[in-house]
Amino acid sequence: MSADYQKDGSIAVITLNNPPVNGLGLSTRRAVVELLERANADASIRAIVLTGAGKAFSGGADITEFGTDRATQEPHLLSVIKALELSAKPVVAAIHSVCMGGGLELAMGCHYRVAAPGTAVALPEVKLGLLPGAGGTQRLPRLLGLETALNMVVSGEMVKSEMLAAIPGQKLFDQLTASAESLMAEARAFAEKIADQRPLPLVRDLPCKHPQAEAYLQFARNMVKGMAKNFPAPGKCVDAVAASVGKFDAGMQVERELFTQLMFTPESRALRHLFMAERAASKIADVPSNTPIREIRSVGVIGAGTMGGGIAMNFLNAGIPVTILETKQEALDRGVAIIRKNYEAQVKKGKLKPEKYEERIALLKTTLSYDDLKQADLIIEAVFEELGVKEIVFKQLDAVAKPGAILASNTSTLDVDKIAAFTQRPQDVVGMHFFSPANVMKLLEVVRGKHTAKDVLATVMQLAKKIKKTAVVSGVCDGFIGNRMIEQYSRQAGFLLDEGATPQQVDKAIEKFGFAMGPFRMGDLAGNDIGWAIRKRRAVERADMKYSRTADKLCELGRYGQKTGAGWYDYQAGKRDAIVSPVVTQMIEAHRAAEGITPRKISDEEIVQRLVFSLVNEGAHILEDGIAGKSGDIDMVYLTGYGFPIHRGGPMHYAGEVGLINVVQAMHRFAKNPRDDAAFWQPAPLLARLAAEGKTFS
Ligand code: NAI
Repeated sequence: MSADYQKDGSIAVITLNNPPVNGLGLSTRRAVVELLERANADASIRAIVLTGAGKAFSGGADITEFGTDRATQEPHLLSVIKALELSAKPVVAAIHSVCMGGGLELAMGCHYRVAAPGTAVALPEVKLGLLPGAGGTQRLPRLLGLETALNMVVSGEMVKSEMLAAIPGQKLFDQLTASAESLMAEARAFAEKIADQRPLPLVRDLPCKHPQAEAYLQFARNMVKGMAKNFPAPGKCVDAVAASVGKFDAGMQVERELFTQLMFTPESRALRHLFMAERAASKIADVPSNTPIREIRSVGVIGAGTMGGGIAMNFLNAGIPVTILETKQEALDRGVAIIRKNYEAQVKKGKLKPEKYEERIALLKTTLSYDDLKQADLIIEAVFEELGVKEIVFKQLDAVAKPGAILASNTSTLDVDKIAAFTQRPQDVVGMHFFSPANVMKLLEVVRGKHTAKDVLATVMQLAKKIKKTAVVSGVCDGFIGNRMIEQYSRQAGFLLDEGATPQQVDKAIEKFGFAMGPFRMGDLAGNDIGWAIRKRRAVERADMKYSRTADKLCELGRYGQKTGAGWYDYQAGKRDAIVSPVVTQMIEAHRAAEGITPRKISDEEIVQRLVFSLVNEGAHILEDGIAGKSGDIDMVYLTGYGFPIHRGGPMHYAGEVGLINVVQAMHRFAKNPRDDAAFWQPAPLLARLAAEGKTFS
């Protein structure tokens, strides 16, 4: 049973017990109903206290039941709440730590609520593209007023119990306890006090009043429309809460209907997929969760350039001391000045308190000597992207680093196994591929070398959480997961230009699909010279690889992007607005003429399909090669590192939504295009097999 029962004089205490957060899974729901019956059947019991064991009152639905039939088996949460309301003896919820989603709905089904200060209270369903489906949208407005409840339901954000208890006229909490420690004693005393009071108060009987409900709700609808254009859930949340201004049962029916509608939207499926994928990404199949962790108390960073400074900031923000090493004092000074400038900007915007800034800077040391890295627990290299330079650095690190120190490389393309082989301790070497700007971007690709030890991986994955990154494990290959896929996407973008599209048409089409930025605006931001360098290398390694020459021609004109004031677009000094460039238009037209290409009109649909399906096909190869452990990992990489639209759930999930068979058929069509790369459009065997079986990647 996932709940415990205790008799304490005339009070029965029912304690949800389903670690880690008392998720309301089937066995917990059953247990609550059974134990309620037991308490009601016991003549010596006058009142019941419902609480949660351990770290939470309840975090809501049991995520391990998502998508299983256990989630829909009786008793549903609605039935449990009904049982609470029908209890002949008063039920007092004793709320602490975390009270969210279904947990809060359960508490609102009780006759009374006593809460500890510091409790995190929320209805976060909107974050999964849903709305609270067990009365949350109807009961919360009756207890907190329309406006506060609407804000909580639409935002899904957490509010502390003491803030809610301070709202004048609020009825959510009958009592806020003096401390978390005194919760149970105070809840029992409260239960004794109200044990004989009748009738039992029910939230459903309370009115939901607002002096200008209609005007307020209209205002809320307008706000939501502007803010959540790709997501239907916030708007439906407003509609559901709006129904609380009427009769309770009718409102419950509206809530049920809207909940069911949302359950079947692709947006909610995408968000639920990502919720699970994010949790799954931190788990590595052959690295058990109890793998011992190496303690990371100090970090060394080699190189204070674009990446080194941002990498250092992550650790300073987490309170971990950092020593940065460079070859020259000027480089160190430049790097530290940028770190300071970044922090100062945060202080100016009010995002960082001045004293915190001082604290963080005090944790930063600089050096020109490897001797100062002797004590570091983790050393991350971010020097020039040349194997020869990496060799010098890793040999020096091997000579000075203490035994057990983790040696990481931030390389974006080089072979981590070769880098590990420069040391006598390849088991301690790992790739930590941060994305630029490293202090901002959420993604961290953790590159697992042939010899990387399991405890090194486990340590880095845990550390990633501490520095608030989404870590995804990648095997060793050129470009790892993200850049290996983006190369195919960029190649398609180039072919589209050759065949008749303009940079602005391509960017607009994929931005309309939901990407944060199209490939050409992205190139201008990141620097077109980066891709140029990679293509030059490719031309040597894989002379057979077909690609459009337009990007090379652009670079030959010195148009590297925003940093040179011109790229695929023109830029006005100090501004980032992309302006259509007649020079680029002419360059593309001249290129087509030289190649003998008659431009054709290309539809936005074709643009989106070719760009997105190129990611999907390469992603399938990556899964097959074992570079990524699961398709959800690839989706996480694309969401957190490449601006893939969240409401589409990542390329691999999106392919499943389109239907893999449709993806494969589109690829066969693309393969017939003489200007494209027919070999690339051969579906990866995994993709072809899953499509034939009618399956998806997950
Ligand atoms: P950068 O050129 O801005 O900085 C490199 C720094 O390393 C320079 O300050 C240089 O003085 C220093 N350095 C060079 N040799 C050194 C040595 N032997 N010892 C100590 N310091 C040395 O380069 P960036 O962009 O920061 O790239 C660094 C690494 O990060 C490369 O491996 C790159 O591929 C990778 N990376 C870069 C990304 C980007 O967007 N810039 C993204 C992800 C990874």
